[in-house]
Amino acid sequence: MNTDRHGQLQSKDLLGIEQLSKEDILLILDNATGFKHVVTRTVKKVPTLRGKTVVNLFFENSTRTRTSFELAARRLSADVINFDVATSSVNKGESLLDTVETIEALGADYVVIRHGSSGAHQYLGRQVKASIINAGDGQHEHPTQALLDCFTIRENKGDLAGLKVCIVGDILHSRVARSNILAMTRLGARVTLIGPPTLVPEGFRSMGADIRHDMDEGIRNADVVYMLRIQLERQGSHLLPSLKEYKQLYGLDADRMRHAKRDAIIMHPGPVNFGVELSRDAMESPQTKILDQVTNGVAVRMACMYLLRGARNVEA
Ligand code: CP
Repeated sequence: MNTDRHGQLQSKDLLGIEQLSKEDILLILDNATGFKHVVTRTVKKVPTLRGKTVVNLFFENSTRTRTSFELAARRLSADVINFDVATSSVNKGESLLDTVETIEALGADYVVIRHGSSGAHQYLGRQVKASIINAGDGQHEHPTQALLDCFTIRENKGDLAGLKVCIVGDILHSRVARSNILAMTRLGARVTLIGPPTLVPEGFRSMGADIRHDMDEGIRNADVVYMLRIQLERQGSHLLPSLKEYKQLYGLDADRMRHAKRDAIIMHPGPVNFGVELSRDAMESPQTKILDQVTNGVAVRMACMYLLRGARNVEA
């Protein structure tokens, strides 16, 4: 994707970081700064998407992403429908495409989708006129999570160029890690992936990341320590020795954090497995920015919806 001369993204869809140039990412982050001012003032609304309809279609569980998209759409004055997959005709065998076409026929301008199949969004984007926004597709991408993470790092550290960002844990199954590696390397960060060889395969070096299997050595001089959730629901039992051993080798606590820079920040996409990847003392440290990430998600998602081609009103 590239930005056009009006400072809008050229695509109608947000499918992944893969499609975004460095300039696209910076455009989104810069616009999110403006929207963060909007969501922190007394009147938290702008008329940008008045008359537009956003449908949230989540085939997998979500607390942060779904609520954040809903709030972002409401702050932009759009109408919002939270489609209930559990009571829908999906349970009578209706296909994903038929479901999205039906939602579009009802007047949706944006369909925000989380689905277990990697690549489902690309297919849908070609089939419908509505803007398709990827809220997580299988183990492939979670682009708005990476954008809000980059926004949070910029807020705390300034430009990402030259920063050492360590992503720790289950890289193999993580769409968050994949989108973040793409976004952060594009912005010039030095990304180090840390975890056991079963969860951090060598193949990730081709994405421009360094790989370490020793946590203390890996996080030395880090500016950002980004902990991932151990995705118990996606593990084959052979990939982890035991949660106890994983915690000893790769869990983050205040003591281990001393290997990173003194002013390093701790991040996590949530939800956190307390006592596994993060100890309570690390969670409560002032270095931890997990709730800031959640707050920033609303402004970043407002920016994404605002910037997608064809979605903006003249009132913007
Ligand atoms: N970070 C994230 O995607 O959280 P949810 O699963 O709660 O949306």
